[in-house]
Amino acid sequence: MTILDGVEVNLTRDAISLDETYTAHNYSPLPVVAASAEGVWITDVEGRRYLDCLAAYSAVNFGHRHPEITAAAHAQLDTVTLVSRAFHSDRLGPFCAALARMCGKEMVLPMNTGAEAVESGIKVARKWGTDVKGVPANEANIVVARNNFHGRTTTIVSFSDDEAARGGFGPFTPGFRAVPFGDADAVADAIDEHTVAVLLEPIQGEAGIIVPPDDFLPRVRTLCTEHRVLMIADEIQSGLARTGRTFACDHWGVVPDVYLLGKALGGGVVPVSAVVADRDILGVLHPGEHGSTFGGNPLAAAVGSAVVGILEGGEYQARSADLGAHLHARLTALSDRGVLAVRGKGLWAGVDIDPRLGTGKQVSLRLAERGVLVKDTHGHTLRFAPPLVITRDEIDWAMDQFIEVLATG
Ligand SMILES: Cc1ncc(COP(=O)(O)O)c(C=O)c1O
Repeated sequence: MTILDGVEVNLTRDAISLDETYTAHNYSPLPVVAASAEGVWITDVEGRRYLDCLAAYSAVNFGHRHPEITAAAHAQLDTVTLVSRAFHSDRLGPFCAALARMCGKEMVLPMNTGAEAVESGIKVARKWGTDVKGVPANEANIVVARNNFHGRTTTIVSFSDDEAARGGFGPFTPGFRAVPFGDADAVADAIDEHTVAVLLEPIQGEAGIIVPPDDFLPRVRTLCTEHRVLMIADEIQSGLARTGRTFACDHWGVVPDVYLLGKALGGGVVPVSAVVADRDILGVLHPGEHGSTFGGNPLAAAVGSAVVGILEGGEYQARSADLGAHLHARLTALSDRGVLAVRGKGLWAGVDIDPRLGTGKQVSLRLAERGVLVKDTHGHTLRFAPPLVITRDEIDWAMDQFIEVLATG
């Protein structure tokens, strides 16, 4: 409740009511109305502060309004923001060159949202299959993992096994084969002469931060090489320093043929996504075969360049590794207080809680009341993924709140 001109107003309730009336109900947000944010902190319309332990699903890896990223955006707003790909801009080439270099690849296909990067990766793999591998037209298949999450388009939900994401949205796109995540033998069995790609999240995010067995990604890499299949790593949530390395694949020394990037590539400012691969793969696209009006626009490119510059410094990868070890140690120590399992790497943790303490959503609500914002994934799993600028003291404070919430469950 806030007093304005002597009158009591409930800014939170009014904002939520407006949202609920005019915004499609495709989300179920916590009752927190952000008004401003800086670093790891979000301030709501009533002036309450919350420690953000979600970081917009890893889109805000470098903190809210990182000064170098916002400076790059401000400067670009004063020059040129959009020309479409009908013309060149002086920002796109430098961005793609820097991003390709960081990925150890030769070319970049710039898009906007994560789902668009995934769609584009699928199209590139199919085109590569037809033009380069010689798979007959319309015969290509792509091996994917069960419990994947790659976005929300009709093609992407076609190979999801989340019924909420699929129900009522058919007919679906054919050409996908799902195998259990982490099972390299099943990947081997699924590959045939018409397989063009294996598409995986190296660590499954929405499924609950599921880390595969150590031999999984190296074996998938070998299978893909042996069978002339593209290994596509969806690093949209796991990548760009989230796990303590630039890419989650780095933990296993695996280099995929194609990186799909998004979320943090836009610095929490604008949607920026990309498909990054060598010339023999991205070179299959010719004018008119794929595109996006906003993909690679000068504002996005300026922001993306700032993000790549930040990542090249290595500071955030190191922070995530060091502070992530602390976060995991603190969470693991809660095993006698209702924490059943802790998974993840770096500042990314999936935490299963004892169902007797409430659902993930109920625990998230209680944490929000104590000033900590997290998001439940499935049922009884919470995800801790704070911006990588979080300090050790802030982690400790969040853990103290979590202990209180578990104790009062
Ligand atoms: C691994 C992965 N891929 C793709 C996406 C889709 O990204 P967007 O919501 O930007 O379309 C997400 C979003 O959570 C994701 O986690």
